[in-house]
Amino acid sequence: MGLIKYIKEEMRIIRERDPAIRTSFEVFLYPSFKAIIRYRLAHRLYKRKRYFLARWISQRTARKTGIEIHPGATIGKGLFIDHGIGVVIGETTIIGDNVTLYQGVTLGGTGKEKGKRHPTIGNNVMISAGAKVLGSFTIGENSKIGAGSVVLSEVPPNSTVVGVPGRIVKRDNVKIPREDMDQVHLPDPYLNDVTSLKKENEFLKKELKRVCSKFEMIESTCDKLEELDILLEKLKNQETNKTSS
Ligand SMILES: CC(C)(COP(=O)(O)OP(=O)(O)OC[C@H]1O[C@@H](n2cnc3c(N)ncnc32)[C@H](O)[C@@H]1OP(=O)(O)O)[C@@H](O)C(=O)NCCC(=O)NCCS
Repeated sequence: MGLIKYIKEEMRIIRERDPAIRTSFEVFLYPSFKAIIRYRLAHRLYKRKRYFLARWISQRTARKTGIEIHPGATIGKGLFIDHGIGVVIGETTIIGDNVTLYQGVTLGGTGKEKGKRHPTIGNNVMISAGAKVLGSFTIGENSKIGAGSVVLSEVPPNSTVVGVPGRIVKRDNVKIPREDMDQVHLPDPYLNDVTSLKKENEFLKKELKRVCSKFEMIESTCDKLEELDILLEKLKNQETNKTSS
C-alpha cells in the first residue's frame, strides 16, 4: 500500500473508532499512527534478518510513543491503539485485521513457553485498557477483553472476558452464569455457628452427666462411711459399758 493510501486508511480507522477526533489531520498526532507506520518498516527489516536496525527503530518508537511493538510480531490491517502509552506487543504475537487495543495492554509471554510464546489475536477483537493477555493461545474473533483483565487461556470467538484470571461472561451476546457458583450449597455463617454451638452443648451435657454420676457415687460412699462411723461409735460405747459394769 502506498503512503498516501496508508494515511487515508489510518484516517478512516481512527475517525471510525475514536469519537474524540475532530479533524482528519489530528491523525498525525496519534501515537498509534506513528508506532504502526514505524513497525511496518521495522518488520520489513526484521524479515530481511536486519535484526539490530529493526530493534533500533522499535525501541526508538517505544521511547517516543510509549508503544513497544517487537518487529517480529505479525500485524494485520486496521490495527488501532488508542492513547497508546504502556502497550507492549511481543515478538511472536499475531494480530488479525481491525483489532483495537487501549493503553496499558500487554500481549506477552508467561516466561514458561519457547518458540511461539505470545498470543494470536483474531479479527475485530477489542482489548481494553490495562488488560494482559499472556501465553501462546488464541483470542477468537469479535471477542472483547475487559479493562484490567488477565487472560491466561484460549478465548472462543464472540466472547467477552473479564477479571483476574479472565473468565468468559458473555458468548454470542448471551450472558454466561459463573461456572463455579454453586447456588444450592451457599455458605451460611449463622447456621455454621448454630451447628457448632449445638455440638458443644451436647458435649457439655454429657460431661455434666458424667460428673454428676461420679458425684452421686462419692456421696453414697460418704453416707456409707458415716453409717460405719456411727456403728463403730456404738460398738465402742457398748464395750466401755461392759468393762465398767
Ligand atoms: C468488557 C467491556 C468491553 C464490556 O463488554 P460487554 O460485552 O458489553 O459486557 P457487559 O458490559 O455486558 O458486561 C458483562 C459483565 O462483565 C462485567 N464487567 C464488564 N467489564 C468488566 C471489567 N473490566 N472488569 C470486571 N467486570 C467487568 C459487567 O459488570 C457485567 O457483569 P454482570 O453480568 O454481573 O452484570 C467493558 O466493560 C470494558 O471493560 N470496557 C473498557 C474499555 C476501555 O478500555 N476504555 C478505555 C478508554 S480510555
